Amino acid sequence: MNDTPRSVVIKGTGSYTPANIKTNNDLASTVDTSDEWIFTRTGIKERRIASEKETASDMGASAAQRALEAAKLEASDIDLVIVATITPDMPFPSTACLVQTKLGITNAVCMDIEAACSGFVYIMEVAASMIRSGRYQHALIIGTEKLSSILDWEDRTTCVLFGDGAGAAILGPLETPGVGLLDFTLGSDGAQGDVLYMPGGGSANPATADSLNDRLHFLKMRGREVFKLAVKVMEQAAQEILEQNGLEPDQLSCLIPHQANLRIIELLSSRLNVPMERFYLNLEKYGNTSAASIPIALDEAIRSGRMASGDYTLLVAFGAGLTWGAALLKTP
Ligand code: UT7
Repeated sequence: MNDTPRSVVIKGTGSYTPANIKTNNDLASTVDTSDEWIFTRTGIKERRIASEKETASDMGASAAQRALEAAKLEASDIDLVIVATITPDMPFPSTACLVQTKLGITNAVCMDIEAACSGFVYIMEVAASMIRSGRYQHALIIGTEKLSSILDWEDRTTCVLFGDGAGAAILGPLETPGVGLLDFTLGSDGAQGDVLYMPGGGSANPATADSLNDRLHFLKMRGREVFKLAVKVMEQAAQEILEQNGLEPDQLSCLIPHQANLRIIELLSSRLNVPMERFYLNLEKYGNTSAASIPIALDEAIRSGRMASGDYTLLVAFGAGLTWGAALLKTP
């Protein structure tokens, strides 16, 4: 084992979103809602919906293929695959193992980590630490979700908010110190677990005719409570990581928040006193894609030139659990 500290950088990113678009007006034809209500309360206009046969591992593999191309690496270069998802193809084997096979990666350790919408920030820190240890060279990290498979399409309070998609990044070492993934802060509070959860399908409520009738296999959420907690923990995580690194919010060139609700992001912007123009936003097009939300936005931000050399970027997330986390990046 080599314990020399080394930088861990993003070598390439990729994303994938299904072609099928469901607009707010489409939803208004099936539940009692309107484009005006959804857009003014959330900032969402439309979301992507995977086809019946398309799985989280399919979408993750497509995003990962693009990340490999961007990194100019081959499947054989990857020795670690970590997937963040709350909608795995099945309880086991892991979605990471399924993606591994789809991409022809033959010599890698593969695992899933579940931290809901904070999942990508969580797996970024896990992968970065494993690379820093010297034991692993190139990690493929993926956030992928087929949330359409766990939404109650009769519940207007939740089904209008979410969508499907995947984002991926390849992380690897760089001998130049002080660049790349500079720092992380993560947190969890299980006592707040009942604000956002899915009761069915695990060992507490395995699938039975009763569990289906009771609609336990759908996401449940107390939206207002989640909203308040989200604003609090995102601000806290952002302030904490800036303080840890002696930075002021104004030194951030780009902020990539979990794309759940534009009003949450606007409150974060005003509390941090960072203008909205610095925030990368795409929730209008995709809605909330949980663990895929930050990596899709990260891929789009990098490809559109939003992260220039020397720039500081902040990723900040919150999600079910409750979980939250922030990552501080400096583009090499
Ligand atoms: O990754 C984490 C995921 N979760 C989140 O980020 C969710 C955070 N929370 C939110 O984004 C907001 O709380 C929501 C967008 C979910 C809801 O917005 P709100 O301003 O907090 O609305 P509300 O829940 O207080 O509901 C206001 C009204 C209610 O009607 P009454 O009781 O005032 O008559 C709801 O029944 O809006 C009604 N309503 C709807 N009306 C039309 C709830 N959903 C809808 C809908 N269309 N889709």
